[in-house]
Parts: sequence; C-alpha cells; structure tokens
Amino acid sequence: MGQSKERMKITLIACIFILCVSIEGDAEKIGVNNGLLGDNLPPQEEVVSLMKMNNIGKYRIYKQEPTVFKAFANSDIEIIVGVANFDLQRISSDEKEAMKWVAEYVKPYFPATNIKYIAVGNEVLGKAETAKYVGYLLPAMINIQNALQKANLQDKIKVSTALAARDLIEALSFQAPSKGTFTEKVENDTSAVLKFLEHSRSPFLANVFPFFIYNSSRDSYSLDYALFKPTAPVVKDGNKIYKNLFDAMIDTLYSAMESMGYSNIPIVVTATGWPSKGNDVATIQNAKSYNNNLIKHVLSKAGTPKRPGQSPETCIFALFNENQKPGDETERNFGLFYPNKKPVYPVQFSV
Ligand SMILES: *[C@@H]1O[C@H](CO)[C@@H](O)[C@H](O)[C@H]1NC(C)=O
Ligand SMILES: *[C@@H]1O[C@H](CO)[C@@H](O)[C@H](O)[C@H]1NC(C)=O
Repeated sequence: MGQSKERMKITLIACIFILCVSIEGDAEKIGVNNGLLGDNLPPQEEVVSLMKMNNIGKYRIYKQEPTVFKAFANSDIEIIVGVANFDLQRISSDEKEAMKWVAEYVKPYFPATNIKYIAVGNEVLGKAETAKYVGYLLPAMINIQNALQKANLQDKIKVSTALAARDLIEALSFQAPSKGTFTEKVENDTSAVLKFLEHSRSPFLANVFPFFIYNSSRDSYSLDYALFKPTAPVVKDGNKIYKNLFDAMIDTLYSAMESMGYSNIPIVVTATGWPSKGNDVATIQNAKSYNNNLIKHVLSKAGTPKRPGQSPETCIFALFNENQKPGDETERNFGLFYPNKKPVYPVQFSV
C-alpha cells in the first residue's frame, strides 16, 4: 500500500516534470528586427545581452552581416537573415553566386549561429520602387535553395521572401478576412512564390502593419481595433469574430493563399510594429499599447480565428530607432529602444 502510494507520487512528479519541460520547450519567444540603419547603434555583443536580458528570442537582419553571425553564436537566439534586394540580380544570375553566399555566410557560422530562415528580398512584390527586382526574385530563391541543398542544409534552414501585406491586398479587404484575395497586379508573381514555398515546405514571411492600414483608411478601421484594445469593436465575418486588425490581416492573407489553392503554408510575421513619433497617432502611448498588447496576444498562443491555437512567430520592427532610415519621420521612430539601450517606453517581453 505504502509502496504503491510512493510509486504514484514518483509517477506524478515525473509527469509534472515532463509537462513543465515540454511547455517550456514549446514556448515561443518574441523577435525583433534590426535594420542597422543608424550611426549610433550599439555593437552586436551588447545587442545580444540586451535581447537576452529581455527574453527576446529571434533577431531579423536584412542582409548578411558577419559581425552579427559571430556575436550571436551559441546565444540560442534564432536568426532570420535577408538577401538584400540589390543582391538579387547577381544571386539569380548564376547558381555559383548563391553557393558562394551560402559558403561565405552560412556554412562558417551554422549551427552555432542558429540561422532559421533566409528571406530572399524584402517587399519586392507590389511596390513601384521595387518593381525592377521582381524578375530576379524567384530565380534567386531557387538558387539559394539549391545551394542549401548542396550543403545538405535544406531541412534546417528555410528559404522564403518577406512580403508586405499592404502591398499584396487592398486596405479595405482586411474588413472581410474570409474573402481575402491578392490584387490582380501581384497575383501571378505571388502564386509562383507560393508554389515554391509549398514545394520547399517554407513559411510565408509577412510584414503586417495595422499602423499603415489604419493610417490610410481611418474611416474604415478604429484606432482601438488597430491597437488590440479590449474596447475595440467586434468585427463579424461569417461565423468568425475579430477583435483586432492584426488577426484580420493575417487571416486575410491565409484566405488569399487558399483562394490560389495553398492551404498548408504557415505565416511567420517578419515585421510588425507602431511608431512612437512622426504623426498624430504615432505616439509613445499608442506604440506602447500596440507592442505590449501584440506580445501578450502572440505569447498567449490564442492564434487567429482561422488558425486558433497557432500564433504566428512574430518579430517586432524595430529593436532600435534608426536615425539613417530614409522616408517619413515615423520610419526612424519604430524602435523599442533608443540607441543608448534605454527603452522608449516600457515593454513586457514575456508573459
Ligand atoms: C497573369 O497570368 C494570366 C495567365 O497567364 C495572364 O492572362 C495575365 O495577364 C497575368 N496578369 C498579370 C498582371 O500579369
Ligand atoms: C498617414 O496618412 C496620411 C494621410 O493619408 C499620409 O499623408 C501620411 O503619409 C501617412 N503616414 C504614413 C506613415 O503612412
């Protein structure tokens, strides 16, 4: 009697232990982007410490950076590295160029540096400024994929491209996620990318910014809905209920993919965020609300109405305010931290 009680106790403790370990193992961490467009940004070793201190688990950079690969070795932080748009033509022209890229920037560092995704090109489809790269995009993705295959890394590192939700889908279409379709302009090129992603079992990397959609369509979306506020209106779409624009944008992308016959490609959010300065709704208060509510939502693993229980891996743009980023003033004020590593506003990175 006493012995079997003891055995039950040991079994129970073992079960609790296994449960805790497996929950710990599954826990996704939030990620951040660093565009590195600043003349006052801290060295990468300090970035590693800052990220570890805040329990940030993913780091996205826009092109190969040996200083990053070295500093992040054995850090346990996952890396998403880009192939820059201006390199697409060269990489697409010859598989040897892709093999050189992999030999120079992946092989010497992986797996100590945990490179997880290669984002070939950033926001190439659906923009006038990047139209000149469109023809190089898929051939460059294929060449990088083949180069990884030759290095036998194709199962460990996934090749994709980062696309902006707002470049692929009309702003007002996010009001009815179940009816989402890609614009006619990008449909054919997006379809070719999706075929590649399905075949290589890679995720769809999406830059999802409720800020830009709200800013350009203020009559159609409420600020609270864009900021995940509990006071946000509830938006009904068939039998699905939306309480925030972020989920609505992701599900609209899923619907658009489904409409082209692709229903098994997961979405990874490579960039999302809210600026704290530069226009009337780019305030510290709104940025603080957006990013804190976003993190809570993603780490809760609530998922979206179309994919309940599956929150997308998510990287916030950006780790730092970047003083050399061109364009609108908001572009230089997306940072969670100032370059001196002081927070722009308090952010809770783990639940
Ligand atoms: C997309 O492909 C179809 C079929 O090949 C073609 O008729 C159409 O013009 C293409 N659309 C664009 C925007 O290129
Ligand atoms: C916000 O919207 C206004 C009005 O349409 C526009 O002038 C401005 O450029 C937009 N800002 C951003 C950062 O998109």
